[in-house]
Amino acid sequence: MILNMIIAGRDTTAQSLAWTCYLLAQHKEVREKIIEEVDSVLGDADPDYESLKELTYLQAVITESLRLYPSVPRFFFFFFFLKNY
Ligand code: HEM
Repeated sequence: MILNMIIAGRDTTAQSLAWTCYLLAQHKEVREKIIEEVDSVLGDADPDYESLKELTYLQAVITESLRLYPSVPRFFFFFFFLKNY
């Protein structure tokens, strides 16, 4: 179970963070909007589960980055599990 979590959780998260940073490096205006949102939602406070829900622009950016560079491509399921995705 622990090994499953490490294998399933480590590379997916690393890839999505790496691609998001790659895209953000190319889009200064998006970076600035994220900083603005984080500043206005969090101020000087540490993030918690509730405040993370309010970071909707950041959520959209991560989702878009996963759409452009999926950590787990759909064809993976097709080839390995022969489902009709
Ligand atoms: C950007 C990050 C992640 C992406 C894109 C991702 C994607 C996925 C996908 C597509 C599946 C298959 C779902 C299905 O069966 O239809 C899956 C399953 C799974 N993921 Fe992730 N995952 C991410 C992060 C994590 C993390 C952080 C963990 C654990 C700490 C994790 C643990 C698992 C486990 C245990 C399964 C198998 C669930 C099952 O057997 O039904 N994943 N993930």
